[in-house]
Amino acid sequence: MLHSQLRNILQNMPKAELHIHIEGSLEPELIFALAQRNGVSLPYSSVEALRQAYAFSDLQSFLDIYYAGASVLLTEQDFYDMTAAYLARAHADNVRHAEIFFDPQTHTARGVPFETAINGIWRACQEGPISASLIMCFLRHLSEEEALATLDEALPYRDKFIGVGLDSSEVGHPPEKFARVFERARQLGLRLVAHAGEEGPPSYIESALDVLKVERIDHGVRTLESRELTERLAREGMALTVCPLSNIKLRVFDVMGSHNLRQLLDAGLAATVNSDDPAYFGGYMNDNFIAAFDALPLDAGHARQLARNSFAASFLDPERKRAFLAEVDAFFAQAGADAA
Ligand code: ADE
Ligand code: ZN
Repeated sequence: MLHSQLRNILQNMPKAELHIHIEGSLEPELIFALAQRNGVSLPYSSVEALRQAYAFSDLQSFLDIYYAGASVLLTEQDFYDMTAAYLARAHADNVRHAEIFFDPQTHTARGVPFETAINGIWRACQEGPISASLIMCFLRHLSEEEALATLDEALPYRDKFIGVGLDSSEVGHPPEKFARVFERARQLGLRLVAHAGEEGPPSYIESALDVLKVERIDHGVRTLESRELTERLAREGMALTVCPLSNIKLRVFDVMGSHNLRQLLDAGLAATVNSDDPAYFGGYMNDNFIAAFDALPLDAGHARQLARNSFAASFLDPERKRAFLAEVDAFFAQAGADAA
């Protein structure tokens, strides 16, 4: 059992979330409410029946349900409501800043205009209660031509998102498939991230870095399979946005007790803790911290490191980063004084 003092630290410490798919924050209750509002019929009889379908064997088995869930999002208000619910929930977990993924192709493929999705998500982010910015992800199971067309479509809204990412089915869709679209995004001054090394091999992490020139690796838990890559990421201070509950639900690790978060930190890697798709994986930020610290040999020193890593690896400007890091340090100084 996690000591109540460590639990309090995990819950109350200031933190940033760097790996959250906004469509993955859509709770079953909201899916049903939006389905009713929009006259969309769902292949589930109740909220409970939908929740019961959340038993996944791997990434693809989750993605099939996740894309079906997103089909209730039709109007700008729907995207606003989903995002406002996430931001309020993150605020309750003492998340101070979130860098939020969205998947425009999931919506444009259904005839929902790009502007409907981004305007609703962005408007909620403007209203708080926490700091938030947006990262547009390309679906890697689709072609690079489709990703390029999506980037073109996004250009009129260039001021509403800070970067691009790469998500969806990993194995069989290596980063180098998207070399040109990431090069184009880089020329536009966008920040670059990609999912790599969740189910895919360490070589996908290497090509995300060398071909796409990403600045953070999303997941990256398979890094430790390559000593050379581990040493490189440690040397370069490359951040990993690790998602503990996601990794258990999608069977990347059998049980939380065999998750490699502690080993990643021991190897000197800039790991962070994140929720990925909290409505589907059993929890938001603090649930992820508590589940990981409950099962693994992690203490208050690790909590401080993870909180610091989250702000240090963010795309905030240097001044805001320094201010948040000072808040983390002040929090832990006080926690130490209280414990003494
Ligand atoms: N889209 C939403 N969640 C994802 C994940 N964990 N991996 C890849 N694509 C995703
Ligand atoms: Zn993800």
